[in-house]
Amino acid sequence: MAQTEYIGAGALARLSEIIAEHNAQKIFLVVGKSSYQASGAEAVLAPILASLAVTRFDELGALTLEEHVTEGLSVYKKCAPDLVVAVGGGHVLDAAKAINAMGNRVPLVAVPTTGGSGAEATPFAVIYKAGVKTSLDGPEVLPTYAIIDPLLIASTPRTAAIASGLDALCQALESLWAKGATNESRGYATEALELVVPTLKTAVDTRDPAALDSLARGAHCAGKAIAISKTTAAHALSYGLTYRFGIPHGIAAALLMPPLMRINKVMLPVSAEDIESLLRHCDVGPLSRFGVKRSDAASLSDGVDPERLGNNPRALSKEDIQQLYMNIL
Ligand SMILES: [Fe+2]
Repeated sequence: MAQTEYIGAGALARLSEIIAEHNAQKIFLVVGKSSYQASGAEAVLAPILASLAVTRFDELGALTLEEHVTEGLSVYKKCAPDLVVAVGGGHVLDAAKAINAMGNRVPLVAVPTTGGSGAEATPFAVIYKAGVKTSLDGPEVLPTYAIIDPLLIASTPRTAAIASGLDALCQALESLWAKGATNESRGYATEALELVVPTLKTAVDTRDPAALDSLARGAHCAGKAIAISKTTAAHALSYGLTYRFGIPHGIAAALLMPPLMRINKVMLPVSAEDIESLLRHCDVGPLSRFGVKRSDAASLSDGVDPERLGNNPRALSKEDIQQLYMNIL
């Protein structure tokens, strides 16, 4: 699986090179309803796309639901694009990846506006079908191009910036201990941590350009790491919290990390206490703040994604999982 990357401040303008290379005339543009304008992407892309036939699709919610993908696919088919451009957070990129893989598949350019899910770097897309998290998985899902432009993430609202930064952190950490890890994925995960850990607080608190640059690059590295290793129990246990209680994905995964680290007992460059201190700094959690009760632990445990759970270095029983949720109420 090969992907061409453009990385750095101002990299988004290089979309014009990709359009020229493919002689693209019809563009299917998948964007976040407000992030497209707020990130500054629209201002950069409007002149580049002005002379082309552009079909814009932004009918997406906070999660990628099967009905969004079905709706998007019918718009995609009418458009019959020769290039797909996706600009947004992880759920926007995942929706575009799924629609393109299920359509006739043309080159896809993924541009994250959060730092970030790493979705621009992975060959899978999370889709919720009737409340159940599923993953579309295969080489045809991987975006052909990734454009990482840190200027786009400067305007991410604080809570979304915290959630996406924590997602990148969890993905890098989980990748290191995943059963599916390889030397290559460990290299990407280590690089991701070196970029994300020292800069995450500054990037969220002050939007310092150098910190945002590190975070954007680190999130992309974390995406490349999980593209190989996949994620583990923190992600597996997080999906129900996101779907049922609306807890932002990265926050749900990060709340689960400290108790999971104490169970997995794998040496990592970041400790459970470090994560807890970061969570306090960001003022997120515990689960009860989002309306989760003790009585929800059993049904949450029943809904855990078995595939990602099986990639955890330690087998977890139903009781372990319930206890894990209860530890962070
Ligand atoms: Fe994630």
